[in-house]
Amino acid sequence: MDRWVDKVAVVTGASSGIGDAIARRLAKDGLKVAALARRADRLQVLEQEVKESGARGIVKGYICDVTSESDLTSTFRSIEQDLGPIAVLINNAGVLIKSNLTDLDLDGVKTLIDTNLHGVINCTKAGLASMKAHNVDEGHIVNISSVTGNWSEPPPPASLYSASKHALNIFSVGLRAQLRNEKLGIRVSTVSPGLVKTEMTEMFTGDISLGYYMLPEDIADAVSYVIAAPHHVNVSQITVDTLFEVVYARLGAM
Ligand SMILES: NC(=O)c1ccc[n+]([C@@H]2O[C@H](COP(=O)([O-])OP(=O)(O)OC[C@H]3O[C@@H](n4cnc5c(N)ncnc54)[C@H](OP(=O)(O)O)[C@@H]3O)[C@@H](O)[C@H]2O)c1
Repeated sequence: MDRWVDKVAVVTGASSGIGDAIARRLAKDGLKVAALARRADRLQVLEQEVKESGARGIVKGYICDVTSESDLTSTFRSIEQDLGPIAVLINNAGVLIKSNLTDLDLDGVKTLIDTNLHGVINCTKAGLASMKAHNVDEGHIVNISSVTGNWSEPPPPASLYSASKHALNIFSVGLRAQLRNEKLGIRVSTVSPGLVKTEMTEMFTGDISLGYYMLPEDIADAVSYVIAAPHHVNVSQITVDTLFEVVYARLGAM
């Protein structure tokens, strides 16, 4: 990771779970991390704990709702001013709604699509604009998808979430193809976790021992790996799953 030391990484959804772990890991690897989320208190704790940990890099929190274009415009501008041009973007912010399709509440549908899809697209536009404007010699966009984005027959209560991750995967494929054509040296990867113990999965019942769940740090390891790969290597897609169980049954259980 030495070539990334002092480079700027934006991590969305960094106030808990996987995003929090990725922010800590990238700071440990020496990057300057802009941690985005809506909960300011969580971001302050993250910033402070990374400072006290003796990490090579830093974390700076930015209160930002990824569904708000005006928030994103001002936040990405502030990041460039405070930390420098963006080299790495981790699109991690996401929500899960577990509901049978006939019972879906339309506000919930809007929140899920706005966060899991529009949020990623908007952050990608803003991140790419920064990379291109500053001619970054190496850029990387990592989209946090899910094993549900690979399923052809998701359980009904997880269909909408799965659909958002399928769409994210196809968006990532298209973006990678476009950036390859443009020969800009910007890589695109998707990381697709199975079941991880976070706030998102608190509602799940069943065995919560390791092997049935992973830890957020396990996914942060995978993200660090895809970024650390030599620049001529694009790890396009990586699935990180639990040892004993696929999440299918738990997502299906209502
Ligand atoms: N946990 C799993 O088993 C699992 C498995 C596969 C994939 N994933 C994916 O991994 C990612 C992280 O999930 P997680 O499990 O770590 O969930 P989590 O602990 O609930 O964290 C979700 C994060 O997203 C942020 N967020 C939600 N809406 C946002 C918005 N409008 N603007 C900005 N930030 C927003 C939350 O921050 P604020 O509320 O502070 O804004 C929080 O930091 C998601 O994309 C999820 O789909 C999770």
